Amino acid sequence: MSSIRLETERLIVRPHGLDDFTAYFAYIMDPDLQAKLGLNGVTDEASAKETFCWLMKNCIFLALVRKADGKAIGHIALHPPFDSLSHDPEFQGKTGYSLSFAMATKEQRRGLMGEALEALIPELFQHQGADFLDREAEPSNTACLSLQQKLGFTLWRRERWYDTELVIQVLMKEQ
Ligand SMILES: CC(C)(COP(=O)(O)OP(=O)(O)OC[C@H]1O[C@@H](n2cnc3c(N)ncnc32)[C@H](O)[C@@H]1OP(=O)(O)O)[C@@H](O)C(=O)NCCC(=O)NCCS
Repeated sequence: MSSIRLETERLIVRPHGLDDFTAYFAYIMDPDLQAKLGLNGVTDEASAKETFCWLMKNCIFLALVRKADGKAIGHIALHPPFDSLSHDPEFQGKTGYSLSFAMATKEQRRGLMGEALEALIPELFQHQGADFLDREAEPSNTACLSLQQKLGFTLWRRERWYDTELVIQVLMKEQ
């Protein structure tokens, strides 16, 4: 995948860099946001830095930067597809990414994540070789599930992951 840099009305979407850590630390320490992301053990600056550096190294970890002041206020991370999808014949030989995303709590419900994903998804399908995208969320995460549905994701399967039920939604590239 080549480097992504997109511009929307209010945001720049580009890879997170070390200089963004202070802004990341400010939004990621919200316990509710962490719970919804399934983050465990991010309790202080050192553990947040470890997670931040892990994401920079192991994922495509994109910052959502507010154009108005250049501050990162959220992120979208692209991971390998959810395990059961990669074992399903329907997805064999296809390139997919599992999305995770977060918006700073006080910036939520302003249409910003929708704006970022509406720009990113066509880029992934048309220029970055993606055939499908997936995202798993707990049934109670209505913000995540309804945002995905608004973007065209549909239910693939519900699955138990340890003691948690997950709703797995998928978006296929249009042929
Ligand atoms: C999910 C999340 C990223 C949405 O970001 P956002 O910038 O607030 O989303 P938007 O304002 O662009 O909303 C777009 C659509 O998502 C849905 N949505 C967003 N927040 C919602 C909420 N609290 N309740 C119900 N639907 C919601 C709506 O369909 C909304 O469209 P509408 O405003 O026309 O109704 C944000 O709530 C968040 O960071 N949550 C915590 C982390 C998380 O759950 N991440 C997803 C799993 S990895």
